[in-house]
Amino acid sequence: MLIKWTPQYAVGVPEIDRQHQELFSKVNDLLVACRQGEGKQKIGSLLSFLGDYVKIHFGTEEKFMRDQAYPEYEKHRAEHEKFVGNFLELKAKFEAEGAGLWLLAHTNRVVVDWLINHIMMTDTKLGSFLKAKQDS
Ligand SMILES: [Fe+2]
Repeated sequence: MLIKWTPQYAVGVPEIDRQHQELFSKVNDLLVACRQGEGKQKIGSLLSFLGDYVKIHFGTEEKFMRDQAYPEYEKHRAEHEKFVGNFLELKAKFEAEGAGLWLLAHTNRVVVDWLINHIMMTDTKLGSFLKAKQDS
């Protein structure tokens, strides 16, 4: 399954949408590599990309939330922290054992799940709030 950013994932804040598109593209690279039987070679680069990405990206979203006094800030941030926890677990596994099928399968599951559930539900909800604030 390949994954593509479509407007249904749009949060409506250009900076956040751009960052999400970048993530989609990186995850897609991994999925393409898996399809070609080269997933194990690609997983290290996705994990190192994610290390910086999560800090920058979650920082961006959380700043918007704090600046605009978003009432669901804590709940949203808890989802980010959960993702960071999952990511650190994958990274530790990669560092300890290298790329194996278990790691590949779990990485795919964690990131695809994130794209679909967190961005589509939680981030778009934040987007609607920010838009309403802007319009008011
Ligand atoms: Fe988020």
